[in-house]
Amino acid sequence: MYFLKNQITPLISSLNKNGIVVINSLIEKEYVVNKIKRKCFKFLNNSKYLDKSFNIKKALKKKIDLNTVTIHKKNLFLTKNELNTGYKKFSRLTNSIELIDPLLNLPELIEYIVSDEIINICSKHFKTNSPRLLYVAFRCYFKNNLPPSDVNYYHTDDRKFVTKSGENLLKLAIPFHLDKKDSGEYSQLIINKKKLKINKREFSKLQHSEARDFPKKFHKFLFHPNVKKRSGYVFDPNNFFHKASKPNKTRLICYAVYGKKTSYLSKKTKKIKITKKIFNNLNENAKKFTCLLTKT
Ligand SMILES: [Fe+2]
Repeated sequence: MYFLKNQITPLISSLNKNGIVVINSLIEKEYVVNKIKRKCFKFLNNSKYLDKSFNIKKALKKKIDLNTVTIHKKNLFLTKNELNTGYKKFSRLTNSIELIDPLLNLPELIEYIVSDEIINICSKHFKTNSPRLLYVAFRCYFKNNLPPSDVNYYHTDDRKFVTKSGENLLKLAIPFHLDKKDSGEYSQLIINKKKLKINKREFSKLQHSEARDFPKKFHKFLFHPNVKKRSGYVFDPNNFFHKASKPNKTRLICYAVYGKKTSYLSKKTKKIKITKKIFNNLNENAKKFTCLLTKT
């Protein structure tokens, strides 16, 4: 389940079977990881680089269930002032926050998200000669005393009992917070949901679950990949149960989501911005791969 990015054939078969592959040395140079990490912490202290995020602490005090609030509850967002106090303070109020426009603010990311190898993996996995980059996000998760979030429990992203083939996705996750001794916070069940042989009701019960909630016979499929600094991992988020543990230090993860242009996610792709300069420098294949993004 551990490969180098050019080991395409064994990588693809492992990805199909287990729903995850770790790509070792995805980022060749350690200084690139350190640079992105440094920039990220700088952004975390400046509200102009940060997206809206719920003040969970405030919601808890007011006994508001965050699962039921809508975007109209503007008074529950962290304020500009709260954000400008710096992440060391506001990380006590929320579990995570997203950096805005990651491809504009961290242009270093593009070569890992849109590499020839990634395009090749997507073409083979989705069995199409026109896979697409559908989404990019950079999310920072905090160590704090707040209750866990949804992502800290096992789930599939679409939460559907059956995922249509046109809705299949792949996610690339690249961590930037790991030290040499760390192994990451991600866990996954390395068996496709179709092979669990459970009914719809049992399936729904496993959304938002913990390892112990899975029947004993599935415990051998629980897998915590050893994700090293400079590595990334590709997984199938709709067909395999997965989660990330609450971090014990600020967790920095870049996500790229890939699929077919028919996917529901393609409606959101135009929100992702890339500079014209970077886009024009891509090869023809990569231009096609990123054609749904907005060029600025
Ligand atoms: Fe997920």
